[in-house]
Amino acid sequence: MSKDQSEIWTKPTVSASTYGNTVASVQNIRAAMQKNCKMTSMRYLLAFCLMLLWATVAAAQTGNEPVCIQCHDADMMKPAFRKIPAEWRQSWHHQNGVSCHDCHGGDPTDAAMAMSPQRGFVGTPKYQGVPEFCGKCHVGILKNYIESGHGKALKASGSGPNCVTCHGAHDIRKANIDIINEQRCSQCHTYERAGIMKQALFATERKIRDIENALKKLSSQGMYTAEEDKTLFRTEAEFRTLFHTVDVSLVKEKTDGFDKQLDGLRKKTDSLFAELESRKSFTGLLTLLFAGAGVVVYLLAKTYR
Ligand code: HEC
Ligand code: HEC
Ligand code: HEC
Ligand code: HEC
Ligand code: HEC
Repeated sequence: MSKDQSEIWTKPTVSASTYGNTVASVQNIRAAMQKNCKMTSMRYLLAFCLMLLWATVAAAQTGNEPVCIQCHDADMMKPAFRKIPAEWRQSWHHQNGVSCHDCHGGDPTDAAMAMSPQRGFVGTPKYQGVPEFCGKCHVGILKNYIESGHGKALKASGSGPNCVTCHGAHDIRKANIDIINEQRCSQCHTYERAGIMKQALFATERKIRDIENALKKLSSQGMYTAEEDKTLFRTEAEFRTLFHTVDVSLVKEKTDGFDKQLDGLRKKTDSLFAELESRKSFTGLLTLLFAGAGVVVYLLAKTYR
């Protein structure tokens, strides 16, 4: 291994202490690297070394796993609780670095004090306390929810659904309108109003997907779409919090507004496609002209000879 590569290798982006945990595996990997790196060409060598670096950083992060999981994953934990870490590992929260203590509080670095209130442990929320528990991060959604029929019914009598009723607590996935279905939404009332809402959201959702695909296609063919990407992102973000109002007439009114904005965006992508086409035919024309000129020059040269 040359000096340069060994420098790339020994400068990982993790701190010395977390890195210490994985010294043994680093040494194994390094031995394997020394064997392998000699045999491969420079390009594969670099890719390989980068992959190993990534593997070590990932290993170092597992060594950094909160103590919560060490106990909660253990055999002595009662079965109903023991399945929680596995559910959480599949969640969108896990993918985005939201861990046990981000929701429950407590100290993820000190097993003895992990669940002590002095270290901020808040335990399990009551059914009616869940919205605020989640809403400390999802502020805009909490606001819409609290003002909704669901939020009011929850606060008044505990009869409304809370965040967990619709999203779950530990296996939370990326949200979409499939959460609105007959089974879930007819537990407490008829499905009728839910169905009308889903229809309105579905039409707008489809427009968003169509435009998203059109923009991807345009940018893959070299068109500049940053402005349109931004407009779509903003519209989508605003649209996605709308559901929590569960206000059927507001949803219909607002989706009409979003549809207008999206139709405007659709016109822009259409004209970008037209521009792309005319660029293509212009290039075709140029090619034809050059070819024609070539033939003329050739013929002229021949006649003069
Ligand atoms: C997104 C926030 C969130 C995260 C992250 C989270 N929890 Fe929870 N947890 C909750 C909520 C909300 C409840 C209450 C569940 C309910 O109402 O059904 C709960 C309940 C629990 C319970 C009690 C379950 C019961 O049946 O009484 C345990 C134990 C628990 N969580 C452990 C964990 C562990 C361990 C982790 C990390 C692997 C974790 N939680 C991560 C939100 C979270
Ligand atoms: C030393 C082992 C251990 C550690 C470390 C640990 N727990 Fe627990 N936890 C337990 C046990 C045992 C229970 C109770 C299970 C039962 O009721 O049988 C429990 C219960 C819970 C509950 C449900 C009961 C309640 O009070 O709400 C939550 C939530 C919870 N733990 C979260 C956490 C979080 C978050 C962390 C890390 C900051 C953590 N735990 C660290 C062992 C541990
Ligand atoms: C009655 C069911 C229901 C309840 C209660 C509920 N949600 Fe949702 N949530 C949904 C549905 C359906 C969507 C998808 C909406 C869409 O795609 O237009 C969603 C979307 C979301 C999103 C994604 C928004 C985005 O920007 O993409 C988050 C975050 C969320 N909910 C958090 C919460 C929180 C926090 C609570 C409690 C305060 C809550 N939800 C209560 C059904 C519910
Ligand atoms: C510590 C902050 C925090 C807490 C507490 C929290 N979340 Fe999240 N949540 C996040 C982050 C960060 C993301 C990932 C970024 C994103 O997708 O918006 C996320 C994503 C989500 C999504 C997927 C959003 C999407 O784009 O489709 C849902 C649904 C969600 N959270 C629901 C909940 C529910 C329900 C609770 C309570 C049980 C909760 N969250 C508690 C921070 C939090
Ligand atoms: C835990 C019970 C429960 C579940 C589950 C539930 N709801 Fe509701 N919902 C209520 C209550 C309570 C009200 C307020 C009383 C009423 O208007 O019927 C309500 C009201 C509504 C309203 C009328 C709101 C208004 O202000 O006019 C709509 C729309 C609605 N729910 C949609 C849904 C959808 C969509 C789902 C599934 C994603 C769902 N609900 C799941 C309990 C529930």
